[in-house]
Amino acid sequence: PTIKILVCGGGNGAHTLAGTAAAISNVEVRIITLFADEAERWSKILESNDLVVSITYNNGTASEIRSKPKFVTKDPAIAVPGTDIIFFTVPAFAHQQYFDAILPFVEPNTIIAGLPGQAGFEFQAINTLKNVVDKCAILSCESLPWACRLLEFGKKVQIQGFKESLSTSLILGHGQYKLPPLELVQKILGERPKIVQAKNYLAVNLMAKSIVHPPIMYGKWCLEWDGEPLKFGAPLFYQGVNDVQADLLSKVSDEIVCTANKIQQLRPEFDMSEIIHIFDWYIISYRDQISDASNLKMAMRTNKAYNGLLHPMRKENGDLVPDFSYRYITEDIPFGLVVMKGIAEIVGVETPTMDKIIKWAQEIMGKEFLIRSELKGKDLKCTRAPQAFGFKTLDELLNV
Ligand code: NAI
Repeated sequence: PTIKILVCGGGNGAHTLAGTAAAISNVEVRIITLFADEAERWSKILESNDLVVSITYNNGTASEIRSKPKFVTKDPAIAVPGTDIIFFTVPAFAHQQYFDAILPFVEPNTIIAGLPGQAGFEFQAINTLKNVVDKCAILSCESLPWACRLLEFGKKVQIQGFKESLSTSLILGHGQYKLPPLELVQKILGERPKIVQAKNYLAVNLMAKSIVHPPIMYGKWCLEWDGEPLKFGAPLFYQGVNDVQADLLSKVSDEIVCTANKIQQLRPEFDMSEIIHIFDWYIISYRDQISDASNLKMAMRTNKAYNGLLHPMRKENGDLVPDFSYRYITEDIPFGLVVMKGIAEIVGVETPTMDKIIKWAQEIMGKEFLIRSELKGKDLKCTRAPQAFGFKTLDELLNV
C-alpha cells in the first residue's frame, strides 16, 4: 500500500526530505509550509520542474535524485487527512504553528515525527494534540539525517553529508500504524542514517546538540568581545574554540550528566546510560574526523566536519557584528538549554553554568525565562521547558 507522508516546512531539511522520499516507490509526499508565500511559490515551481537532490556521499562520490512531490500547500485541511506520518522538518521555533494548524485534522493512527524534534518536542506534542495523542505515536530524531542546504528554492537542494546513525525516541501510543514507526522512518530515509531507538525519550532531550552553540556564543560575545564591530571577517565558530569556551561547554554537559544521574538514582528502573559527556560523544560520533582528541577544545578545533564554519554575523554600517537572531540563540536557548534546565530543576539539580548562559541570552532576546536560578520568568511559555506545559514532577515526566 502507498505510504502517505506530510513534510512540514520549506527550508533545507524539508526540501531534502521531500525530494528523497518522493523518489521511493509507493511513497506519496505532501508538503505543507505556512511561512510567507512559500507554498504558492513552491507549488508553482513544481508544476513545471522536478525537485532535484544533489548528493555528495561521505566517500566523495556524487549522484542526483529527481522526483515529484504530490503537492505543496498551506492548507492543513488538504494536507493532513489520510497521512500516515507527519514530519516536522523545520526549526523548532516554528513547531507550535504547525501543531496548531494540523490539530483539527490529525486522525488516530498517525505518526508524528520530529526530524529533528529538538528538546521539548514531546512536551509540546502531548500538550497540543490532547485529544488524539493517545492514538498517535510521537517520535523525535536527535538531528537532521543530513548536512544539507538549499541551492534553489523549490528546485534544488544539496546533501553534503549523511549522519551514520540517529538516536530516536519513540512514544508508541495506542494507534495501529501501517508499519512500526521507526521501521517506517527507516524506509523513508533509506539505508543511511541508521535509526537507533533511544532507551527513553528523556535521553534524546538531554542529549540534544543544542547545548553546543550557546556556550560558544557566550564565551565569544559576552566574555571576550569588546562590543566593537569587526573589520576583518567572521571568526571561525568551532575551529576558533578556546579554553574558556570549551570549559563552559564541558560544564554545561556536566550539569546534564548530573541531571541524568539524579534521575537514575531516583528511578533505578529508568535507563539513563545513553546520556554521556559531550567530549565522549564527540569521540564516538566523529571518530574518523577528529585529528587531535586529547581534550574537548582540540577535538572541536580539529574536527574536519566543522572546517571553515563561521560565527553567524550581520552587517551594521558595513562592518560585522554578531547575529543574535540566528538559531544558535533563538532556537538553542528556548528549545534547547531552557528545556534541559527545566528537567534539571524538576529533579533538584543545580545548573550554575547553564543559568548564566541563559541569563545572558534572555537579555539579548528581550525575554525573561529565568529569575535568579528558577524558571519562573514571564516568557517561560515561549519555551519548551516541561514546566511550560504543566509537567512539574518526575512522575509526570516519566509517565508521558
Ligand atoms: P532552515 O533554516 O532551512 O528553515 C527555514 C525554513 O523555516 C523556511 O524556509 C520556513 O519554511 C521556515 N521559517 C523560517 N522562518 C520562519 C518563521 N518566522 N515562521 C515560520 N516558519 C519560518 O532549517 P533547516 O536547515 O531545514 O533545519 C531544520 C532543523 O534541522 C533545525 O532545527 C536545524 O537546527 C536542524 N539541523 C539542520 C541541519 C542542516 O544541515 N540544515 C543540520 C543539523 C540540524
